[in-house]
Amino acid sequence: MDIFHIDGPVRLSGSVTINGSKNASLPIMAAAILVPGKTILQSVPHLSDIKLFSTLLENLGCKVSRDPNDNLEIDAAVVDNPIGDYEIVSKMRGSICILGPLLGRCGRAEVSMPGGCAIGDRPIDIHLRGLKALGADIHLKNGYVVAETPNGLIGTDIFLGGPFGSTVLGTANIMMAAVLANGTTVIDSAACEPEIVDLANCLNTMGAKISGIGSPRLTIEGVDKLEPVKYTVIPDRIEAGTFMAAAAITSGRLSIKNCKLEHLMAVVDKFRQIGVIVEKANGGIEVTRDGSLKTADVTTQPYPGFPTDLQAQLMALLSLADGNSIVIEKIFPDRFMHVAELNRMAAHLRKEGPVVIVSGVKQLIAAPVMASDLRASAALVLAGLAAEGTTIVNRVYHIDRGYEKIEERLNPLGAKIERQSI
Ligand code: EPZ
Repeated sequence: MDIFHIDGPVRLSGSVTINGSKNASLPIMAAAILVPGKTILQSVPHLSDIKLFSTLLENLGCKVSRDPNDNLEIDAAVVDNPIGDYEIVSKMRGSICILGPLLGRCGRAEVSMPGGCAIGDRPIDIHLRGLKALGADIHLKNGYVVAETPNGLIGTDIFLGGPFGSTVLGTANIMMAAVLANGTTVIDSAACEPEIVDLANCLNTMGAKISGIGSPRLTIEGVDKLEPVKYTVIPDRIEAGTFMAAAAITSGRLSIKNCKLEHLMAVVDKFRQIGVIVEKANGGIEVTRDGSLKTADVTTQPYPGFPTDLQAQLMALLSLADGNSIVIEKIFPDRFMHVAELNRMAAHLRKEGPVVIVSGVKQLIAAPVMASDLRASAALVLAGLAAEGTTIVNRVYHIDRGYEKIEERLNPLGAKIERQSI
């Protein structure tokens, strides 16, 4: 198991290029199941989640490899074992997005229920409601979802809203089940996240007929088959936001390349509110912090609201602001594993249910801390960059799930992070 030794405080400066999006790559990799041929994906990052998802696809019968240009090739000529094992699904909730494409391709699937994780319960009731509406027979057996479509999938109108708003992977599952269904499907309260837009664009490149992309209402006209394509996934907006926070928390200046400002408007707005300078620059953004941080109130919401995947990173930043801030988590109300760890670093955070009151302090102090979910872990790395002394982050594997060798990207910018295997 790896740990990080992080010396601080440091001031970051320089240029970093953002990788392809993990959360766009996973559903787009799942979409390849629908195509009896070789799909080629560009800009898929090298992450443990991608490797795990590749294993999941291979277990289904696909062949997955990287070509000489580092593109990910998924040959789904054969999909003869439509089973998503608990071993993999329990490690990565995102695996659930194979359910829809397996029903579209094979007419049956057995996928383990995801179970809970560090950020809270990961229910899939809305996924299942949508698939049933499309004509799937679904029952639970020994912790697995067993789904079959005796009469095929039949287009219909589906409302996908839940108590926390839309569902990202629920939208992905229903969209991927609908593209080969008989007739037209209308999804209301669809997720509008850029990753879902990317999936819909990829499916249309394959020959699907999806309209309303990027809006809460998607219309999907079923087609007979899809063709294999070569597709480039979008840059990772959450990785970009994490590097924005790294520049701000170290009073540094970063040029963040290969990121789409239009995917980060809520984040840019919040950073500007707290006094961070964010400017559009060629093919990316320039982020500078010069002076003290102002306080802010932030509530996480479905896109285009402030993303829950950047809540922990912003909280680490606000822990150094001049005064009190309020962080309200509306997507995963329990997503606060980082609060106790940041308090070990002399932050002053008080959790009241889905709300955390952040009383800014002058200085964070290094401490041994425990990584939990991948975004909380990134927040601990950010705090370590600003803290006085050497912070030790345990269970770095959480970070490796969503960030490709983060220490090798931060050290050239001025960070002092040493990875150790223990
Ligand atoms: C995706 O998870 C992302 N994962 C998450 O990123 C992200 O935090 C989340 O969307 C929200 O933006 C991937 O894309 C692989 P949801 P997903 O279904 O789709 C509730 C990361 O850090 N809900 O949009 O699983 C659910 O409990 C990961 O990269 C139901 O109630 O999230 C939550 O409160 C973590 N019933 C809310 O909806 C359902 O059937 C949003 O969840 C489905 C969801």
